[in-house]
Amino acid sequence: MSVDQKIFTNGAAYERLMGQWSRLTGTKFLAWLDMPKGLRGLDAGCGNGAFTETLLEHGAPASVDAIDPAEAQIAYAKAQKSVAQVKYQVADAQALPFDNAVFDAAAMALVISFIPDPAKAIGELARVVCEGGLVATYMWDGFDGVPVSPFSRAAKALGFGGEYALPSPEADTQAGMRALWQGAGLEAVETCRITIPVTFKDFDDFWQSCTAMPNPAIQFMRGLSDADVKRLRAWLQDSQPADAAGRINYTAAANAVKGRVKRR
Ligand SMILES: C[S@@+](CC[C@H](N)C(=O)[O-])C[C@H]1O[C@@H](n2cnc3c(N)ncnc32)[C@H](O)[C@@H]1O
Repeated sequence: MSVDQKIFTNGAAYERLMGQWSRLTGTKFLAWLDMPKGLRGLDAGCGNGAFTETLLEHGAPASVDAIDPAEAQIAYAKAQKSVAQVKYQVADAQALPFDNAVFDAAAMALVISFIPDPAKAIGELARVVCEGGLVATYMWDGFDGVPVSPFSRAAKALGFGGEYALPSPEADTQAGMRALWQGAGLEAVETCRITIPVTFKDFDDFWQSCTAMPNPAIQFMRGLSDADVKRLRAWLQDSQPADAAGRINYTAAANAVKGRVKRR
């Protein structure tokens, strides 16, 4: 089943589903990038600004531009306090509205597999970053890495279908990322795996967060009867037992890549 690309229509719902995990992973990703302060940064596929705000907090950039094709996400981002420091605009990473070599670093957080032509987008990031500058990304590591992965496993176990394909699934592996970065002529390419703890205060919190907005991992739920939704809840409660404090805990994992623009 292919994924409906028009799912990013509600910035607040995205925040409930993914914002907290984006910020947690983004913090580790930025630590790995280890960028000097005062850079001119680009956040491509900024969505509702979750990673952009993390970048402001932990990266201390001189300036930040942030783009996303989803108008509703950009509208949400523009209503946040980061708008004072970030120039948000609607645009596509495959055709960036910037001159050559105007940034010191460009990043895409949790975006690359949603892009139909990731090689084109990486080429664009490399074009707008200056010589020696950094181009980097991270993406959840396949179905099992995503914070909503228990839903995919439940769908499979219960025979509800649930397989889904993002437009560019190969781009979420370290090998796929390395090939894209090298294909774009970037050098000093390195990859890594980032894991984060995913914790919900109880089962309802887990359920509400994961179903806060339509997303690839819960796409299968659209056609379920009430009885099947009940079976799904019961299966998840069994497979994700609460700890002594009632919390649901597991781990999510992402792959990341970074490389530098060659001296021209
Ligand atoms: C999972 S969200 C990630 C948002 C944000 N970067 C974060 O870390 O929370 C994926 C984002 O990729 C954006 N996206 C999809 N296709 C894109 C493209 N061609 N260029 C730039 N962004 C794109 C979507 O609109 C969506 O906001």
